[in-house]
Amino acid sequence: MAKVAPYYAAGSLSAAFYDRVTAADPTLVGDEQVYAGLAPPEGAILELGAGTGRLTAALAARGHDVTGVDISPAMLAQGRARIEALAPGVRARAQLVRGDMTALDLKRAFDLVICPFFTLAHVPGGAAWRNTFATAARHLGPGGLAAFHLPKPDIMRLPGPADPSRPVMELALEDGRRLLLFVRERRFREGVGRLDQVIEYAVADAAGRIVRKSAERLTYWWTDPEPPAAAAGLVRDRDPIELGGVGAIQVFRKT
Ligand SMILES: C[S@@+](CC[C@H](N)C(=O)[O-])C[C@H]1O[C@@H](n2cnc3c(N)ncnc32)[C@H](O)[C@@H]1O
Repeated sequence: MAKVAPYYAAGSLSAAFYDRVTAADPTLVGDEQVYAGLAPPEGAILELGAGTGRLTAALAARGHDVTGVDISPAMLAQGRARIEALAPGVRARAQLVRGDMTALDLKRAFDLVICPFFTLAHVPGGAAWRNTFATAARHLGPGGLAAFHLPKPDIMRLPGPADPSRPVMELALEDGRRLLLFVRERRFREGVGRLDQVIEYAVADAAGRIVRKSAERLTYWWTDPEPPAAAAGLVRDRDPIELGGVGAIQVFRKT
C-alpha cells in the first residue's frame, strides 16, 4: 500500500471530510443531548478533543459557555471557521484553543468536562489515560462531572470487512462526486488493548474515476477507565449511557 498518513493530519482527508462523515454516522445521534443534559443551564463546559467544533458550537447555541481544546491544527482550522460563522451572541460563548488533553492546565474550573466520540481512545491506555483523567479532574470543582465517550471493546475486537474492496461508507458530494471509505487493515491486539486500522478515503468523480485518495491510520486504545479515573479522584456517577450500539458515555464525578 502507498504511504499511510496519520488521522486528522494537515492535508488529510479524514480532517477534510470529518463533518460530512460524522453527520452521516448514525452511532453519534443523541450525543449532544446527553452532554447538554449533564451540564447545568448556561454552565461552563470544557471539551477535550473538540475537533471541528461540532459539539462546541452546538452546546454554545444551547446557552453553554464552551471551551474546546484540540491537538490537530487541521481540525481546529475548520472549527474556527464554524465558530466565526455563528451568530455573535453564540460565538461569544464558544472558544477553541490548541492543546494536548494529556497535559492541559487552563487554570480555571468548569461545570462539566466532556471527551466525546472516542477521543480518549486516541491516546494510549496507560499514562496518557491517567493524565487525561487528571486533566478532567483539574478543571472541575467537587461534585463536577466528566463524561468520556468510549468505544465498546467487543466492537473493537470485530474483524475488518470480509471484502476490503467494498466501501464501508459511500456519501454523495457536490457535482456528482462521491466519497468512498474502505477499511484496508483492522487488527485488535488483545494484550495491549490496541486497535490498528487503516482507512482509505477515496473521492470518485461523476464518471466513477478515483480523483483523490488517501490511506490514513486510525488507532484506538481501550483499557478499563475506572482505575485511571480513581487515580485522578473521579468516581463513577451512573451506569454508562449507551450510544449507537458501538460505544457508551461513561460519567464520572469529582469527589
Ligand atoms: C473523533 S474527533 C472528535 C471531535 C469532536 N469532539 C466531535 O465529537 O465531533 C477526536 C479529536 O481528538 C483530537 N485529539 C486526539 N488526541 C488529542 C490530544 N492528546 N489532545 C487533544 N486533542 C486530541 C483529534 O485531533 C480529533 O480532533
